[in-house]
Amino acid sequence: MNELSRRTFGRLVGAGVAASTLPPLFAQNPPEAPRSVGAGVRLSANENPYGPSPSALAAMHDSLRNGFRYPDEASEELLATIAKLHGIPSDQVILGDGSSEILKLTAAAFCSPSRKVVIADPTFEAIGAYARAAGAEVVKVPLTSSYAHDLAKMAAVPNAGAIYVCNPNNPTASITGKQVVRSFLEALPQDTMVLVDEAYFHYADSPDYESVVPYVQMRPNLIVARTFSKIYGMAGIRCGYGIAQRSVIQRMDQQKAWDSMNAVALAGARASLIDTKHVAEGRARNIATRQQVVNILTNLGYDVVPSQANFFMVNIKRNVKPVISARVTVGTPDEMQAFVAAFRTVMA
Ligand SMILES: Cc1ncc(COP(=O)(O)O)c(C=O)c1O
Repeated sequence: MNELSRRTFGRLVGAGVAASTLPPLFAQNPPEAPRSVGAGVRLSANENPYGPSPSALAAMHDSLRNGFRYPDEASEELLATIAKLHGIPSDQVILGDGSSEILKLTAAAFCSPSRKVVIADPTFEAIGAYARAAGAEVVKVPLTSSYAHDLAKMAAVPNAGAIYVCNPNNPTASITGKQVVRSFLEALPQDTMVLVDEAYFHYADSPDYESVVPYVQMRPNLIVARTFSKIYGMAGIRCGYGIAQRSVIQRMDQQKAWDSMNAVALAGARASLIDTKHVAEGRARNIATRQQVVNILTNLGYDVVPSQANFFMVNIKRNVKPVISARVTVGTPDEMQAFVAAFRTVMA
């Protein structure tokens, strides 16, 4: 898609084609679905269109009363809840102002003018920017033909301070298989850190996918990042966390601003972790809506990369850059109805 048609496309999606003018391809919106930002439909940021869980909203509301206090207790409580969830001590967890902060702390602690960051191409680029700010070179290794990370090539880059593995990967929504990841972690020298970004962990259901959290206890060079911005629907609230061995957490913590987490986000994040029903519902809705849109696009003759996330990548049969920009977040049924109508018009 060239710049002009991409803008046109954005406008068409943004125009929010009335659902009633379209055939009822999709299930009804759930009544509690929050309204989209502004007049349009934003389907480019991989947000969760259903928002935070009701219990997270209530907890955040309550926490405002204690807004005059520093967030020490709220931090401790969230750390303890995360530690319990993963069966690890709480000093192996570090909180972040979004998981972006975990990426930034990793780059700041382990990359430098003599220690590169190695990332896939394409992938979520944030850590590249953070590593550059630390004076590090960014080495990009293309994904394989099946859109997996080419871990053998990534491991072979000399003087790497950190290797970033986004699994599932943004923007392709593809996974790197569990056996390949395991072998890579086992073979890698312990002085090269690996950051596995599991922002989309909850959406992945392939038998070939697994979280690497259980490997942290055996791997002193492994950091896992998680976020509350995706399945927990709190992208605007800002909370994420990292898991690693204690000495790694300490090095990351040295780079972090004191009391950087706000009490509202901490309370909402903690309540979200406890509300497992909201997670299960969000996952089921995403899979159902995603499947419907993918079927429509496939019937229209477009290839969609098999998605293990809350977005998907469409091959719009034009040159490579637009293929990458043609990443679409799975919104509510109404939003996806508007998307399909706009897509048909632009691609006609
Ligand atoms: C793979 C990946 N990691 C991290 C982030 C950052 O998320 P946040 O800082 O909101 O946790 C995103 C955002 O889209 C992402 O796609």
